[in-house]
Amino acid sequence: MMGSGIFISLEGIDGAGKSSHIESIAAAFKAQGRMVTCGREPGGTPLAEKLRHLVLHDAMDPLTEALLMFAARRDHLLQVIEPALARGEVVLCDRFTDATFAYQGSGRGFELKVLSTLEQWVQATVPANCQTELTAVRTVANKDGLAIRQPDLTLWFDLAPEVAAKRLQDARMPDRFEAESSLFFERVKQGYLNRAEAAPHRFYRLDAAQPQAHVAHQITQILQQKGWLNRAIQTA
Ligand code: TYD
Repeated sequence: MMGSGIFISLEGIDGAGKSSHIESIAAAFKAQGRMVTCGREPGGTPLAEKLRHLVLHDAMDPLTEALLMFAARRDHLLQVIEPALARGEVVLCDRFTDATFAYQGSGRGFELKVLSTLEQWVQATVPANCQTELTAVRTVANKDGLAIRQPDLTLWFDLAPEVAAKRLQDARMPDRFEAESSLFFERVKQGYLNRAEAAPHRFYRLDAAQPQAHVAHQITQILQQKGWLNRAIQTA
């Protein structure tokens, strides 16, 4: 099935529990015979994983942070996401650009206009035969600003920051983001809400305070309504 891939992103504040659902969603799609590619951002390619390490652990100014997020995304898109979608696969991505708007935009207070420009540049959809030509990328982004790659569906695991903080308490050493205050995560949550209101056709809010099986049931219903999944997602 060439060209009929499905791009699904999972979003939410740290501790919302999205990562634990990716494997079970992938398993349900595989069980009905679909090829699935799973990725995470920042990360998903050798280069982007190196950028992830830097951005999660080294101090830097907000512009550098935003640029590194988008640099990692660009590599992930070109190397993994676009080819997988072109092969007709299901792509499950643990975070995508909504995280940049929520964390760098709302959380850090970085200019949303600049993030929008970067989003247009980085996610410009480019014909497969000119993906390495930077001039071609620029032309497409400037000529038709709306023709950008976005997820077909974004599952937003929404949770109160104080509940998320409790879940993270016993986790490993916190990274630069996990170490932020609950006020920061209130702003990030608001950032997700703003993005959801701006793109209601692709955003689905999940009540991540519910038990995992209940959340999985909600996801099953969404994917079945879309006609993408013909079975239930099983949780461990
Ligand atoms: P996360 O996806 O939560 O991975 P893990 O579960 O292994 O901690 O970690 C990625 C962190 O990066 C998370 O705190 C959010 C942050 N982030 C941004 O600030 N901006 C972005 O654009 C992305 C993709 C992530």
